[in-house]
Amino acid sequence: MQEHSYQFSYALYDSIDDLTEEDAWLLSEAREVTEHAYAPYSNFHVGAVAKLSNGEILAGSNQENASFPVGLCAERVLLASIASLFPKVPIESIALSYRSSLVDSDHPITPCGICRQSLQEYEKRVKHPIRLILGGMEGKVIIIPAASMLLPLSFSPEDMGNGR
Ligand code: THU
Repeated sequence: MQEHSYQFSYALYDSIDDLTEEDAWLLSEAREVTEHAYAPYSNFHVGAVAKLSNGEILAGSNQENASFPVGLCAERVLLASIASLFPKVPIESIALSYRSSLVDSDHPITPCGICRQSLQEYEKRVKHPIRLILGGMEGKVIIIPAASMLLPLSFSPEDMGNGR
């Protein structure tokens, strides 16, 4: 038997004020984009904004449905639109924020499991890590260098003999 371990490092900032100008701008855009979420069922409005390596900025927000499983997270709405509009262009960073009348938006949230799976395969597709800038409307901010760090031992295209 061999024991293996996994660890990763991320940056924790006290507030948006400690970020670089560009990261702070991206996070403030994500905060604004929460306005475009359609979240009447959860009342949890999520905004995601990406900066691509060609300088383009794109936004996504969660889109729910009365048939609950139909709903999509902000991250996957964003990835689908990037893949459609700018296929093969690497994503440098994605900022994520949220608001809700039920809970305070005072700490970062991290992508759900399904979105982690989608984000890690996107990194593989375009062979480029996606930085995550995670923060609420206020409070601490986390920056993770690559989304795939959040999904160790993941199921991946290589497992299906599809190592593109
Ligand atoms: N949600 C996101 O859009 N992104 C996340 O990272 C976490 C959860 C959405 C899904 C659902 O519409 C609502 O937030 C509550 O789970």
